[in-house]
Amino acid sequence: MQDIKSVIIGTGSYLPGTPVSNDKLAETVDTSHEWIVERTGIHQRYFAKKGQGTSDLATKAAQEALENANLQPNDIDLIIVATASPDNTFPACATRVQHKLGNTKGLAFDVAAVCAGYLLGLNVADSFLRLGKAKRALVIGAETISNLLDMEDRTTCVLFGDGAGAVVLEATEAKDNPQNRGLIGVDLESDGRYFDILHADGGPSSTGSVGKLRMTGQEVFKHAVTKLAKSAKTTLKKYKVSPDELDWLIPHQANARIIEGMRRKLDMDESKVIVTVAQHANTSAASIPLALHEAVKSGKVKEGDLILHEAIGGGLVWGSALLRF
Ligand code: UT7
Repeated sequence: MQDIKSVIIGTGSYLPGTPVSNDKLAETVDTSHEWIVERTGIHQRYFAKKGQGTSDLATKAAQEALENANLQPNDIDLIIVATASPDNTFPACATRVQHKLGNTKGLAFDVAAVCAGYLLGLNVADSFLRLGKAKRALVIGAETISNLLDMEDRTTCVLFGDGAGAVVLEATEAKDNPQNRGLIGVDLESDGRYFDILHADGGPSSTGSVGKLRMTGQEVFKHAVTKLAKSAKTTLKKYKVSPDELDWLIPHQANARIIEGMRRKLDMDESKVIVTVAQHANTSAASIPLALHEAVKSGKVKEGDLILHEAIGGGLVWGSALLRF
């Protein structure tokens, strides 16, 4: 188990429809481009079209990741979808993605940790790969969170967007891994006392309906800044990495002010932080793999780069991940 690392060998992403500007939202809700930019850094977001499900976005991102890894769907034996907005209450969105991809082997399931879901997906996939229970995994963060938005609630509807990001992880033995690439470690925690500060006010065993996203923004903000910094420091200390050794901070994209706070706490140069929140808004579980893929596509992130991820979301669930890309 010690000799095997989970190496990212392909990335992909998908954004549905056309960008929706802040001004467009201001036509129907009492807000302004200036307020949204000043408080969040968000300029636009994408909303899935009617009939476009989370599995559609996830499948497109996964197809691109497979293509970039030079793999066929059946080369994959584990599919994990991190989502808070699945097509159906059950079965898992991942099984629908499995079918849409044309994958007929292995295991597909969802993980639920909302905005921290991608980190949980990475952690679970890594365990499967390192235990020899799978050889190649697709980890997909995908959301049509717009379906959970109350478009009359200006405190939440301007913050979120839809999208998907995917990575292919391959179990790689040390002898085939001279750069020592791969996932180094994930730190995740939850505290259910904060369930109510970020939740959907519905569900099968509560209201029988899907519900809408409700958030006490300021409370979440305060937890985000302290908990993310603590987790990042825990991870860096555990693996004896100092912030200046990091090539990239690729954080969850909820608010440019939270990202800036983290950058300062880690004392990292602005040029080492990947920020996509202006274009994508908060895409929940999709935000990190989306940002990663954009950074790979643009040539910023390269093989061998040392990356720190961090994320916090409903639960609360939060954490960080360290990897050599
Ligand atoms: O991904 C999961 C993690 N989520 C997060 O990390 C989100 C964390 N929270 C945040 O990012 C910020 O708290 C928000 C962006 C949600 C809000 O920013 P804020 O600086 O904390 O603003 P606030 O909630 O203190 O609101 C300030 C004012 C209020 O008016 P009053 O009471 O001062 O008169 C709000 O009613 O801004 C008002 N407001 C708005 N005004 C225009 C709230 N939303 C809007 C809006 N447009 N969309």
